[in-house]
Amino acid sequence: MTKRGFGTNFHKVYGSSPETYHTFSSAERFSLRLGKRIQELSSSGVLLDIACGTGHKTNLLSKSFEKVFALDYSAPLLTLARQKYGRNKKLNFLGSTATHIPLLDESVDTALVTWGSFPLSQTLREIKRVLKVGGSALRIGACVEDEFTALFPSFDIKRINRINKTFISQGFVIEHHEVIIHFKNLKEAKEILNKIVGVSKESITKTVFKHKVALCYYKRT
Ligand SMILES: C[S@@+](CC[C@H](N)C(=O)[O-])C[C@H]1O[C@@H](n2cnc3c(N)ncnc32)[C@H](O)[C@@H]1O
Repeated sequence: MTKRGFGTNFHKVYGSSPETYHTFSSAERFSLRLGKRIQELSSSGVLLDIACGTGHKTNLLSKSFEKVFALDYSAPLLTLARQKYGRNKKLNFLGSTATHIPLLDESVDTALVTWGSFPLSQTLREIKRVLKVGGSALRIGACVEDEFTALFPSFDIKRINRINKTFISQGFVIEHHEVIIHFKNLKEAKEILNKIVGVSKESITKTVFKHKVALCYYKRT
């Protein structure tokens, strides 16, 4: 049987401690190469960030777009996102599931997913529905066991491969990149990884984790 979040506590923390999730999300840094590729592959105009969480990446990426929709189905995460980034007038928050995106057909230039996990085929259908012709979809997710995913209690590479193959079968191209998870200090690394991943504090002895990711991208023709 597949374990939700590979046995981690991510989904529990979204409701019980959104600030904890925000600290984790803020520690994630795209490599320069990945950041550059996201810029190159995006179509400027309207960005839809699906499963935006607390909006850390949405806010950073908003500079390159005219209007941004930040969608998530977690009310606590979206409340925190509004508190953190509500002053950014480009951002429009949508409390909704990814499987029913409350936007018109062909209204989005770039759809982005960073580490969202949801019913894939319905979500991909929705992404293709809302994308304009010429628009781009980008998704970042795990692709191998690495020093971060090795911390997960039930990391399942076969499941990851199935997910990435689904993107390929839907016309996405995959590139491999790196994200650095960089905590401020050892205390923060221990606390956050203990709460979110469920590992013991004693087992965490460093502040930087290299996370190998797949960047899947698609251009609507
Ligand atoms: C690992 S977090 C990623 C958050 C954000 N993209 C980031 O990079 O920090 C996964 C997010 O997916 C959201 N999520 C999961 N299933 C969803 C669904 N069916 N519809 C919308 N959001 C969903 C969760 O609420 C959570 O915010």
